[in-house]
Amino acid sequence: MSMHRRTVAQVLAAFDREIGLEVTVRAAAVAAPPDPVPVPSPARAAPTATPPSVPRVPVARVTADPGAPEARLAEIEARHAAACPHCTTASAHTHLVFGEGAPDARLMFVGEAPGEVEDRLGRPFVGPAGEKLDEMIAAMGLRREDTYIANVLKSRPPGNREPLPDEVAACGPFLVEQILAIRPKAIVTLGGSATKMLLGTDTGITRMRGQWQRWTPPEGSECAPIPVMPTYHPAFVLRTYTKEVRAQVWSDLRQVMAELGIEPPVRPGTPAPRS
Ligand code: URA
Repeated sequence: MSMHRRTVAQVLAAFDREIGLEVTVRAAAVAAPPDPVPVPSPARAAPTATPPSVPRVPVARVTADPGAPEARLAEIEARHAAACPHCTTASAHTHLVFGEGAPDARLMFVGEAPGEVEDRLGRPFVGPAGEKLDEMIAAMGLRREDTYIANVLKSRPPGNREPLPDEVAACGPFLVEQILAIRPKAIVTLGGSATKMLLGTDTGITRMRGQWQRWTPPEGSECAPIPVMPTYHPAFVLRTYTKEVRAQVWSDLRQVMAELGIEPPVRPGTPAPRS
């Protein structure tokens, strides 16, 4: 069932049931003090000491730009479509999937590359994984359109294979430009591949998820480092539909909510706090 055919309350209730945390969340909404705001620590920001062997999104050729985010994103999208060294030569895709959402979003989600449905519609995360992502966003008390959603690669790799190093080297800088235009307060990387590519680490998602990382902007961009929360890819959540995985994702999202000062949404039926 697609999200727009369900009310937010239904989506929230479904998510609570799925992760088995209904009681905990209700209790937290009523009584518990807010989670302490996690301060991304430099010690945790460098999970690997050795140079990563995975493709890394390069940052070197990006420069500062003071333009308004909306106009800036439109310009980046047009330039990407005309000149991305990967996407203008790749031929397996139908549509480019640049990304979408609020140009001034406080929260940005970054995935790996468009899938089959995304390729057909030209929009990120609109297939089954996208429906799961929509549920995750709604459970945080946000609307999809309040966030910004993008991928490292803007065109679907043939047969849905993982992005190759030269593809990431060619297309990745446009993601960096998107981040610099939006300047979100936090980024959630979805899955191991996006996490490795954005952060330049070899460490797997099982060890990275739930641990605050830091994305370091290119020199000269006048952008502060941005906290990054890696979590499981929604497609993995769908494939590995265990209570443990769902609770882990919810725990990761709760950390992001605390970082952004977002209160858990009050569920229908939650008793009013005593005055
Ligand atoms: N998986 C991704 O990583 N990105 C999409 O846009 C869809 C599925």
